[in-house]
Amino acid sequence: MELFNDEAWSKLTAAERSKYLRKWFDLIMAHKEELGQLMTLEQGKPLKEAIGEVSYGASFIEFYAEEAKRVYGDIIPATLPDRRLFVLKQPIGVVGAITPWNFPLAMITRKVAPALACGCTVVIKPSELTPLTALAAAELSIQAGIPPGAVNVVMGSAIDIGDALVASPKVRKITFTGSTNVGKKLMAGSAKTVKKVSLELGGNAPCIIFDDADLDVALKGTLATKFRNSGQTCVCANRVLVQEGIFDKFANAFSKAVESMKVGDGFGEGVVQGPLINDAAVNKVETFVQDAISKGAKVLTGGKKHSLGMTFYEPTVISDVKSEMLLSREEIFGPVAPILKFKTEEEAIHMANDTNAGLAAYVFTTSIQRSWRVAEALEYGLVGVNEGLISTEVAPFGGVKQSGLGREGSKYGMDDYLEVRIFQIFFRIYEKIKYICLGNMS
Ligand code: SIN
Repeated sequence: MELFNDEAWSKLTAAERSKYLRKWFDLIMAHKEELGQLMTLEQGKPLKEAIGEVSYGASFIEFYAEEAKRVYGDIIPATLPDRRLFVLKQPIGVVGAITPWNFPLAMITRKVAPALACGCTVVIKPSELTPLTALAAAELSIQAGIPPGAVNVVMGSAIDIGDALVASPKVRKITFTGSTNVGKKLMAGSAKTVKKVSLELGGNAPCIIFDDADLDVALKGTLATKFRNSGQTCVCANRVLVQEGIFDKFANAFSKAVESMKVGDGFGEGVVQGPLINDAAVNKVETFVQDAISKGAKVLTGGKKHSLGMTFYEPTVISDVKSEMLLSREEIFGPVAPILKFKTEEEAIHMANDTNAGLAAYVFTTSIQRSWRVAEALEYGLVGVNEGLISTEVAPFGGVKQSGLGREGSKYGMDDYLEVRIFQIFFRIYEKIKYICLGNMS
């Protein structure tokens, strides 16, 4: 069965594609409130955060509406006088985009907008946990005039659809955000048809707080990175590493701030922490916390399911965490902040890099020398210095080591959807023209 037709879309001019994207952006922004409500209903994040995600998600469409017009080629000086060498960038072809539930809109637009801008059509497989936001976004793409067949959404079993996308020779690229295990499988499967893959996989972000940090800045930044989306982001601080001189002061102030966070229904007044996505997520968090307690860690606040029941978990701070505990080794994906103590800068860098993951890291210090030194030594794709929220449409997002391949957002986000081709053109040089030119000059 033919599911998609990439011809028509790729043949439009960049300016035409740009106009469609801009219209899509305008419609999403015009429906910001409704999309935010839908997201809170199906995903659980507090309404303010959900509406914030709508703007964040839309920003990729706005950015790539502009970037569509900047797919420049090159002319390379050829090695022979009768040759000319042109570099041309062309759409890679049909893209399979497999997206997660934690950012039901932004992870779609971060993939689909650059793909459309480059002239590719897309088949989206959204998470079965958050299909409604994906469908609403696709409906708005149709209202924006984007021709049917350019943006496709397929609902159903992740395994079946993932397998079909990977197996199809027509799909030339797979872009995925999700777990490292699934990413590895998609990468292996894509080898059969030698597809390009970009993968945004799990993280284990260290958040390093040095003795010389501004305490207020460090507290604000750590709370922001750890508790965004109830700890369910790939860039959430997973390990809070605090230098011994500031340890007690930070741990006390941080626990107090966490204790005061309002948990509840995302539509509730003043709620900043919603539920976790499902029972499996709660069970995982409970297992990690119990593992840490059984090995000597101390709960400073939280540490158990919330009295609201269902999938609510108390925002938690745990101290005396050691690097061998699950909380340090694995991605938590929940509202639990483990605090580890370190003595020296070298020790902090070693602890931070002691993982297969390499997505995001955070550093809090007032020393400019230390900022550069530590940021460069950290093996991570994204480093925030004195800042806990670093994602933006204008900067490349992506990891090193087992956190993934490729970059999303910014001008670099276009590369993954383009093929670079060359035309080497031979032409005959007329001796007569040369003669006339020389004749005119004399
Ligand atoms: C993610 O958690 O996968 C994305 C987070 C972001 O875009 O900031």
